[in-house]
Amino acid sequence: MTIRVLVTGAGGPAGVAVIRSLLRRTDVEVLAADMDGWASGLYLVPADRRRIVPAGVSPGFVEALAAIARDDRLDAVVPTVDVELLTLAGSRSRVPATIVAASDEALATSLDKWTLVQACDGAAPVPRTRVLDAEGVAVDWDFPVIVKPRRGAGSRGVARIDDRAALEALDLDDGVIVQQFLPGDEYSVDVLMGEEGRAIAAVPRLRARVDSGVAIAGRTVHDDELESTAVACARAAGIVGVANVQLRRDADGVPALLEINPRFSGAMPLTIASGVDMPSIALDLALGRPTPASVPFREIAGVRYLEDVFLEPAEILGVDGA
Ligand SMILES: Nc1ncnc2c1ncn2[C@@H]1O[C@H](COP(=O)(O)OP(=O)(O)O)[C@@H](O)[C@H]1O
Ligand SMILES: [Mg+2]
Repeated sequence: MTIRVLVTGAGGPAGVAVIRSLLRRTDVEVLAADMDGWASGLYLVPADRRRIVPAGVSPGFVEALAAIARDDRLDAVVPTVDVELLTLAGSRSRVPATIVAASDEALATSLDKWTLVQACDGAAPVPRTRVLDAEGVAVDWDFPVIVKPRRGAGSRGVARIDDRAALEALDLDDGVIVQQFLPGDEYSVDVLMGEEGRAIAAVPRLRARVDSGVAIAGRTVHDDELESTAVACARAAGIVGVANVQLRRDADGVPALLEINPRFSGAMPLTIASGVDMPSIALDLALGRPTPASVPFREIAGVRYLEDVFLEPAEILGVDGA
């Protein structure tokens, strides 16, 4: 039986990585979607398998996805875009295909950095964190501290606050958190969680070079403490499937939680090359098919370059006279 899968966000690094992973399977037919006809990953699949979808934030997104799922008889949809996850949380039952993403509860927990810290506290080291309200400001902080939006992404709104006067000068905002500053090295751990908190794989990586929030060069590292901390956080957040757990060492060198992105990371090709084909296993897991109990990885380094692909102008979807 052929499994028909639509991968969204075909223009992003995570989308391209998922498409490439699934194209290697002979039992999977891959369809690629993006809101933009210029999205490169669309052109990794044959012309009749390319789809344009509305923006993830737009009200028509879920209906459009549902229509594609029906017309294309999809078995699964892999959303690789943050805003699509938010839109799909709570309305996935309207799409007649399996959504390869964490549960609505786990998405809600991880997409809010305040509820996330509360969920993980006790299960793993978390930096001291409070909402930026009068009580939060009154805490006896060790400076510097970090303030950041509960629902931020791409480092937007993250600021380092060096002393009490600067903290007290901020406008109170319960959409923002105050957090102990973690001064050490930062890691990104791609985790693949099975049912009931079972970890199939956890692959820590050092981000050697970052461009626009995406690691473009890095290496995987074996480190039991990073692996077990990331797994403990993902488990506490209720993740089943793939998530990217970001950790940073505190003043004592202990890795503590920064955040969980409940989706495929842009550096997924490195994790796959290290031995763990997370998109492929996550698809099987979501469809209730057999998955390995655990998958080892090896240390490997990766660099990345742009590659040009040339097409007939008429092939570009939805762009008149391109
Ligand atoms: N508590 C903290 N201590 C030190 N650096 C932090 C802290 N929180 C955030 N940062 C820095 O800001 C970046 C973005 O914060 P993060 O929590 O990952 O939010 P997002 O990526 O969603 O914007 C981190 O990668 C890290 O470099
Ligand atoms: Mg981050």
